[in-house]
Amino acid sequence: MEIKAAVIGSGIGEKHIQAIDELKFSNVKIICETDPKKIKILKKKYRNKVVTHRENDIFKDSSINLVSIASYDDFHYKQILKCIRYNKHIIVEKPMCLKLSQLKEIKKRLSKKKKIKLFSNLVLRVNNLFLDLKKKIKSKDIYFIEADYIWGRKNKLFGWRAKTKNYSITLGAGIHMIDLVNWLIDLKPMYANAFGSNKMTKNTTFKKNSFNVVILEYPKKILTKISSNCVAHYDHFHELKIFTKNATYINNLQGKFIYKDKKVIPLTRNYPDKKNRKKLIQNFIECIVKNSKKPIMQLKEQFDLMSICFAIEESLSKKRKVKINYI
Ligand SMILES: NC(=O)c1ccc[n+]([C@@H]2O[C@H](COP(=O)([O-])OP(=O)(O)OC[C@H]3O[C@@H](n4cnc5c(N)ncnc54)[C@H](O)[C@@H]3O)[C@@H](O)[C@H]2O)c1
Repeated sequence: MEIKAAVIGSGIGEKHIQAIDELKFSNVKIICETDPKKIKILKKKYRNKVVTHRENDIFKDSSINLVSIASYDDFHYKQILKCIRYNKHIIVEKPMCLKLSQLKEIKKRLSKKKKIKLFSNLVLRVNNLFLDLKKKIKSKDIYFIEADYIWGRKNKLFGWRAKTKNYSITLGAGIHMIDLVNWLIDLKPMYANAFGSNKMTKNTTFKKNSFNVVILEYPKKILTKISSNCVAHYDHFHELKIFTKNATYINNLQGKFIYKDKKVIPLTRNYPDKKNRKKLIQNFIECIVKNSKKPIMQLKEQFDLMSICFAIEESLSKKRKVKINYI
């Protein structure tokens, strides 16, 4: 089977193009971009691809069997529905959608078209350091995890994110750390208690919370504290501390190491390891082509992750702890 793909949006979408074109059985035929300046550049850069501003050029083309959605967050939902209607496999940048009702609708429509595969790009699962940590830790020994998504790029809040209705930093940032923790310990939380703040952005065009922190309660008496920190003076960083019975595993600006018996044992695997990120998209494409290939992320895990994010939003608006309802 050959994969003929289309990519919508050419910010992070350009990374999707690279990942898809690198595999021998897949390539990008169409790029859809709405910014006229970018269209000019794309036409010069990708001479053997169709560059268009009309997304319907993709849906009308029956040779396209995969669509990679890297548009702004508020386009994802409608573009997913179109992919389902026109029988195209779907790669969608996180977040899949911005409302719980949309998530339920996507699930319902996908359940009627079982052959269509959908995958959302949660890149930390292929990070070399985190893969190593996953092997080293055991959930039975863990009592607390701190996982902080520190954006270090505050100015990005004031572009399309400020204009997007229902934009959420949980869905846009913290989602990566929630997915990382779920995957590291192979569990999903039962309760969420979240707190948010707009203190650092209140006199700006960004009208939502620019910082939030949530306590998630997992089975096996594991507590986690996960923050979406979009305003810190910091590097763009996925900071992690895993506290276990015998040792503490740390990734922070000081380095990556295990603290055990008052000794610092360095961890040697790569972080941020950006070159491996394309492996996730490539694994998804391999799963479409070969049914026997094991997916790095199951569809159910993606719906569960989104359910957790929406529970965090609910906790923020109700100002109390909520039970997470998995759709
Ligand atoms: N997985 C990750 O680590 C990761 C990282 C960055 C961004 N993202 C996600 O990717 C998406 C895009 O973010 P970005 O950082 O690339 O933004 P960006 O502003 O850098 O680029 C987005 C591009 O898409 C184009 N675009 C937007 N909507 C479009 C549409 N409907 N049709 C055609 N073109 C459209 C814009 O003109 C722009 O050129 C967002 O959903 C974001 O959350 C994910």
